[in-house]
Amino acid sequence: MKQRVIISKQLQTDLAEAIAECEHDRIFVLVDETTNKLCWTLVKDYLCLKDAQTIVIGATDRRKNLDTLVHVWESLQQGKATRHSLLINLGGGMVTDLGGFAASTYKRGINFINVPTTLLAMVDASVGGKTGINFGGLKNEIGVFNDAEFVLLDTNWLRTLDEENIRSGYAEMLKHGLIADETMWAELINFNIAQPNLHQLAFMLDKSVRIKERIVDEDPHEKGIRKALNLGHTFGHAFESWAMKHHPILHGYAVAFGLVAELYLATTQTDFPTERMRQTVNFIRAYYGSLPITCNDYPELIELMHHDKKNRGNEINVTLLGGIGDIRINQTITEEDIKEALDFFREG
Ligand code: GLY
Repeated sequence: MKQRVIISKQLQTDLAEAIAECEHDRIFVLVDETTNKLCWTLVKDYLCLKDAQTIVIGATDRRKNLDTLVHVWESLQQGKATRHSLLINLGGGMVTDLGGFAASTYKRGINFINVPTTLLAMVDASVGGKTGINFGGLKNEIGVFNDAEFVLLDTNWLRTLDEENIRSGYAEMLKHGLIADETMWAELINFNIAQPNLHQLAFMLDKSVRIKERIVDEDPHEKGIRKALNLGHTFGHAFESWAMKHHPILHGYAVAFGLVAELYLATTQTDFPTERMRQTVNFIRAYYGSLPITCNDYPELIELMHHDKKNRGNEINVTLLGGIGDIRINQTITEEDIKEALDFFREG
């Protein structure tokens, strides 16, 4: 059954209904140290959560690892979770990804509900059934496709977010605009992200998440068109893994940087209009800055790209665009192309 993605205006009511639809004996709520303080406190008195046991994990992508996963499995076991128990993931993409994987593997799989609390998780991570952890220095290396029963998007959480987290999620919205159409792209490029109007942002988020839903419905296991959602991610994941060793950055910042490099490649490989590339790159440079890579980092970045999940054999496979809304999946690029794109990224 397809997961139900609900824009929730009444989280308490919607969560109670979702829980009631998922037959369960016990309820567990997974939070990280941040959402434990900022979000759990706001929902813990909901009647539907009165018997819930919380599992708290460390925050940030650095903790999206095997040790944390083991902690969640152990907590479920100690809390006497059965195959009929329900896990509610309350947090950002790290919590929904890791929690989804823990739920998918504990006793061969228990039901879970995602309640994303960051813009990034609302617009991307919590929707579409990708679950997993980082491993061996690589992002999301181990995981499974498995849908949450429900994803409840309550845009009131946006009020709890700092500027960096808003920008991080916004990068995925920008990606959705690029793969959707000119109108949506223009709306995103002209939005004042420095002083975001949260009402307008919530409205745009609704449209954005429906784009992801449509693509995931068509191709849940990323055999074809879902690869469109990887735009910006071949370079983005490499940048993110590189930054993990130096100065970690939020996922969306890595995606924004990846978009700069990949839109440049799209102009040289698939005739993406230079003007549109420049407008998008200027927006990204203005609001996300850059990454202090040098040409000495190229071999490491190329090596990281060789591990990308989209690749086959030795070829590096990337999603490009022939224009806004004109998706070109399965484009292969050479190491020379990568170096040229990295030169552009550094010097632009
Ligand atoms: N984040 C890309 C996808 O869900 O396919």
